[in-house]
Amino acid sequence: MSDILRRGRLATAPDEEIIKFTSSMDADKWIFKADIAVDLAHTVMLKEQGIIENNDCAAILEAILKIKEEGIDKLDHTYEDIHISLESRLIDLVGENTGGRMHSGRSRNDEVATCIRLVLRDELLGLMDDLVLLRKSLYSTAGKNIDTLMPGFTHLQHAQPTTLAHHLIAHANAFGRDFDRTMGALLRVNMSPLGAAAFASTGFNIDRPRTQTLLGFDDLIENSMDAVSSRDFLIESASVLANIMINLSKMAEEIVIWSTSEFDFIELDDRYTSTSSIMPQKKNPDTAELVRGKSGVAIGSLMSLLSICKSLPLSYNRDLQEATPNIWRSTETTRAAVRIMAGMIGTMKVNSDIMAKKSVAGFTTATELADTMVRVTGLPFRTAHQIVGVLACGSGKPTPGEIDAVAHSVIGESLSGRGLTEEMIREALDPISNIKKRNITGGPAPYEVRESLNKCRVKLDKDEQELKRLNKRIDDSISGLLGVVDEYIHNMK
Ligand code: ARG
Repeated sequence: MSDILRRGRLATAPDEEIIKFTSSMDADKWIFKADIAVDLAHTVMLKEQGIIENNDCAAILEAILKIKEEGIDKLDHTYEDIHISLESRLIDLVGENTGGRMHSGRSRNDEVATCIRLVLRDELLGLMDDLVLLRKSLYSTAGKNIDTLMPGFTHLQHAQPTTLAHHLIAHANAFGRDFDRTMGALLRVNMSPLGAAAFASTGFNIDRPRTQTLLGFDDLIENSMDAVSSRDFLIESASVLANIMINLSKMAEEIVIWSTSEFDFIELDDRYTSTSSIMPQKKNPDTAELVRGKSGVAIGSLMSLLSICKSLPLSYNRDLQEATPNIWRSTETTRAAVRIMAGMIGTMKVNSDIMAKKSVAGFTTATELADTMVRVTGLPFRTAHQIVGVLACGSGKPTPGEIDAVAHSVIGESLSGRGLTEEMIREALDPISNIKKRNITGGPAPYEVRESLNKCRVKLDKDEQELKRLNKRIDDSISGLLGVVDEYIHNMK
């Protein structure tokens, strides 16, 4: 048997169905480049520690770079995973006496854990970029709609007037927290398990901090058993991703509702819509529906990860292989959904006249009318609430005469007698003055919304700077690794 893994211990080769069942080659396309980086860093460290000779090191490094060029398709896909097929290709290229030394002092268990962390690190950094894009899009649309009136809803019933800017900032703030959560997850992802080997570390004199630095990790996962067994970083990241998709799905649902003829608050740009194969007039918000639907993928991935990892004994178990693809499914879906939503918000047409008209439908100014009664006449709020509640059973646009009549029936006197003027009533029923009065921190008053937009933009700037700094640190480490690789190859020539 030429299989470099099974030839010693195992006599019978698995049949096609077993290979298909046990192989991770398909999902390993995600970690191919990371595996190359891990091989390079490990080989550099083996040489520096005197575990392999300089000439073997140079030959291995050169061959690994060649394998990177050749790409994953050139690898033997009948092997059970990328790690062993890559090693087998290395041995094809440089012979076993050299290539067969690369795996000294490590195992596929620490190798795969390292690869997953490297790729997930990049995905989380990319996700944070995507979230910046989305927040920018929301802030920019909010900035243009500080005076765009709309009804605010509770229970999806008209509640009080607000503005589109106030509404969009609410969503943007959630994505700001998603950014922070992603950053938090990244802290625990960007740690090196390499050097843990199978689980008990190794008797070779390896240098774990060296590979940690070469690969741009912030720290080590110190305990070697923990290093190969833990996938809590996957669960944490998947939970952050699921949360983002939940936040997106809430927006997507509103976009779907707002696009109906009943609401008609917005019209999506054509590129985010589809039409019907039978009903020629249809303009369907399919992209928003799919964002809503795909939240199920992120939730499902999290559930799969939790159930696969549940009750696994220490240390490595092959079950873990089944966990990994879930994180790629979720990052791919979530990142695309975040970017799509940024574009959808940035290009939608806002029907501000319709929104303004609807902002008073359903007597949304009732609360302000009751509040005005309290402030002017000194009535307890509960009593004013009752009077306006009775008025709400009428037209929803009470006249001063109706107000006095209902006040009489409830408290036995008129409110005009207690100082409530027609002008005050008119103002209480006006949606624009409703908004202006809600000038408490975080409220919809234009001044407040401008203030909160400013704060949001300051935080966004800070987030972008931090992201830049992180990306640069990691890019520098990887270029440093490639520099050392280059040096070790050329020194031998
Ligand atoms: N394909 C494996 C995974 O994703 C790599 C580690 C294999 N380790 C082993 N002991 N079989 O987990």
